[in-house]
Amino acid sequence: MGISQVAVIGGGTMGNGIALVSALYGFRTTIVEQNEQSGERALVNIENSLERMVKKGTVSSEQMQQILDGLVVVYNPLFLDPDTDIAIEAIYENKAAKLDIYSALHKCLKPEAIIATNTSAISITELAVHTRPEKFIGMHFMNPVPVMKLVEIIRGYSTSDDTFSIVHDLALKMEKTPVEVQDYPGFISNRILMPMINEAVFALMEGVANKEAIDTVMKLGMNHPMGPLALADFIGLDVCLAIMNVLYEGYKDSKYRPCPLLVKMVSANKLGRKTGEGFYQY
Ligand code: NAI
Repeated sequence: MGISQVAVIGGGTMGNGIALVSALYGFRTTIVEQNEQSGERALVNIENSLERMVKKGTVSSEQMQQILDGLVVVYNPLFLDPDTDIAIEAIYENKAAKLDIYSALHKCLKPEAIIATNTSAISITELAVHTRPEKFIGMHFMNPVPVMKLVEIIRGYSTSDDTFSIVHDLALKMEKTPVEVQDYPGFISNRILMPMINEAVFALMEGVANKEAIDTVMKLGMNHPMGPLALADFIGLDVCLAIMNVLYEGYKDSKYRPCPLLVKMVSANKLGRKTGEGFYQY
């Protein structure tokens, strides 16, 4: 089965990027949002990203108009085109909410359609179990989606080879670099990234160095484009903490314990850029 009709569930930070890329590479694309306000916000964000691409010369104005004209937003999976080949889910990182959406999708999508999730860290196998496990897979894009090349493709316990190869091929058609990963907590990206960020927070808490010094060491010493504390502010400290908790619970290994300073900052609602303050002020 080739993919021609894509549904993106959730048009937030990740969903609007995924929808843009899907439409840009010629897939008929529909966004499912919760209400008109979030649907309109998704379209405005897509239009803004496209305008930046037109300014850079990577997309022509005609192409931009074509993409905007072709994008459809609906407010219930029931209104998806019956020909939808894949639903890529990018709603909040909340297991119960995701399971609700999969059960709605499972009822209304054709039997051969694939359900993919952009989850950062929830087990693909656990998310898959009540729907169509052979046709369920992780498709983990990076933020910002139009810019970042990597897509981790995570095979749940029962994901079929056929599903894997269709989704792998889809990522290639979107000019991404797909990497095959097995379903273990944090996959590869967050299993390696989050403990590094967590360790940077420990170093800060213990007074080994100040925040600027920690970020400078990693930027200039390791050639990272951003220091770990600035990156944590960008990702959101709540998201970092949630992923550390998934690693800690999943491996039952103390090396993944979240740093108490990270926990305290999340309790104080100092979540980074989105609340105006994290390790830095915005
Ligand atoms: P977000 O909060 O920006 O967007 C979520 C969107 O889903 C919102 O627009 C919301 O209205 C919509 N939504 C919620 N429930 C819905 C429902 N039942 N039906 C339709 N739409 C619904 O979240 P974000 O950051 O885009 O994250 C989405 C997923 O991607 C999460 O699983 C997250 O862990 C993952 N992710 C996030 C990354 C990031 O840097 N933000 C990076 C990689 C993965």
